[in-house]
Parts: sequence; structure tokens; C-alpha cells
Amino acid sequence: MSCVLEVQQLVVRYGQATALDGVSLGVERGEMVALIGPNGAGKTTLLNTICGLLEPASGTYRIDGRVAQVPEGRQLFADMSVEDNLRLGAWTRRDRDVARVLDLFPPLVALRRRIAGTLSGGEQQMVAVGRALMAEPDLLAVDELSLGLAPMVVDDLAEHLARVNRERGMAVLLVEQNARLALELCPRAYVLETGRIALSGGSTELQHSPAVRAAYLGGATDEADG
Ligand SMILES: Nc1ncnc2c1ncn2[C@@H]1O[C@H](COP(=O)(O)OP(=O)(O)OP(=O)(O)O)[C@@H](O)[C@H]1O
Ligand SMILES: [Mg+2]
Repeated sequence: MSCVLEVQQLVVRYGQATALDGVSLGVERGEMVALIGPNGAGKTTLLNTICGLLEPASGTYRIDGRVAQVPEGRQLFADMSVEDNLRLGAWTRRDRDVARVLDLFPPLVALRRRIAGTLSGGEQQMVAVGRALMAEPDLLAVDELSLGLAPMVVDDLAEHLARVNRERGMAVLLVEQNARLALELCPRAYVLETGRIALSGGSTELQHSPAVRAAYLGGATDEADG
């Protein structure tokens, strides 16, 4: 299989501070991959770099196709309608028809005329995902899908993401504080700690790793999971 994203030995600095310190990772075409790690690990920095917002100090990344980001905190245009927010996601494309995204993300149909700032957090996250889908990306980079959202809302969003991945073959790189969710949704994962990949592998294997359990899954034992 070919990689839609290939990152090699990436170093990114903010002034003197090193946020990414030699990160290498890959996402295959159509794959769903999780990136977990504590606050300040460099997750957002990595996404912003592969989306071209930050210049690496050294190392390389290569994207085979288009990448679109669902940014941390959603960052919708609060005074604009849902439909106009969606259209902005397609600014690089000539075809700005929102119909395809409404097909992929049916909950947005009822919301399309609403002013984005009046939506609930979960609805806003749907719009943020929909806006990214408007670019018809080969890779969707999602920064904190679950941030500030109720578990049921998150499950619903996760299901939609998984469906778009299945039906469109769109690869997803999912940055998540909620390691449990990320490892359930994505078959493969990387653990980023202070700018370095500390662990990587199959999600099932990582779920059973004592280090991951202790740091990211609340130290729960297999038995306690039921
Ligand atoms: N614009 C900036 N200027 C200076 N330092 C920054 C900037 N943005 C991030 N950093 C620092 O870089 C490091 C990585 O930050 P980043 O936002 O990538 O972490 P993160 O893994 O996304 O964290 P979180 O889970 O809290 O979102 C942190 O130490 C942060 O303070
Ligand atoms: Mg972040």
C-alpha cells in the first residue's frame, strides 16, 4: 500500500523551544490512525506542520494528495451560516456544492441555514468536520474530535468519521486526548510524548500495554473493563 502521509525525522521549533524532536510516522491510503499523547506533546504542532502552517526546522513530510484539517477548537466563522462555513472549506476547489458533504454528513442538512455561532458544541464539530470534507481530502487531520463534547455526541461523530473512511477511502489522522476512543476507532496508533514518538503499533496491542494503560487509560485492568 502507498502512504498518503509520510513524516520523517521532523523537527519543529517555536523560537528556542523544540516542540517536535525527530518525529517519524506514516499513514497509508484509506487508513485510520490515532495520535495520542498528553497536553503539550506536540500533536497540534504536527498537524499544523503537515497542513503547511508551520515550517519544519529539519526533517521532511510528504502528502500524496490533499490534506484538510479539523482544527482544535473547531474555529468556525461564528457569524456566518453553516452553509457558508462549509463553502469556505472548498476554497481550493472550483466545485463548491455542499450537497456531497450533506450526503456524507446527513445531520448537517437540518442545520444548513443556521448561524454557526448558535449551534451546540457537537453540532459545531459536525460543521467543522463537514467543512474539512468539502476539500475532498485524501487525508483528514482531526485535532481533538471529542474536546468538550458529551460522550454520546462524540460516539455519533466517531461513527460518521468511520463511515466516511469506509465509504470514501479517506484516510484519517485522529489526534485525541480520549485515548480510549482513539484506540477503539483507529486500528493503529502513535503515542507522542514531549515531541517524540514514545510508542506505536496496533491499537489492540497498545490497549494492553501496561505503559499505555497506566498513562492513558486510567490504569484500568483488563478485568475491570469487563
Ligand atoms: N505558537 C507557539 N509558540 C510557542 N510555543 C508553542 C506554540 N504553540 C505551541 N507551543 C508549545 O509547543 C509544545 C507543543 O504544543 P502543541 O500545541 O503542539 O501540543 P498538543 O500536543 O497539541 O497539546 P494539547 O493536547 O494541549 O492540545 C508545547 O510546549 C506548547 O507550549
Ligand atoms: Mg493540541
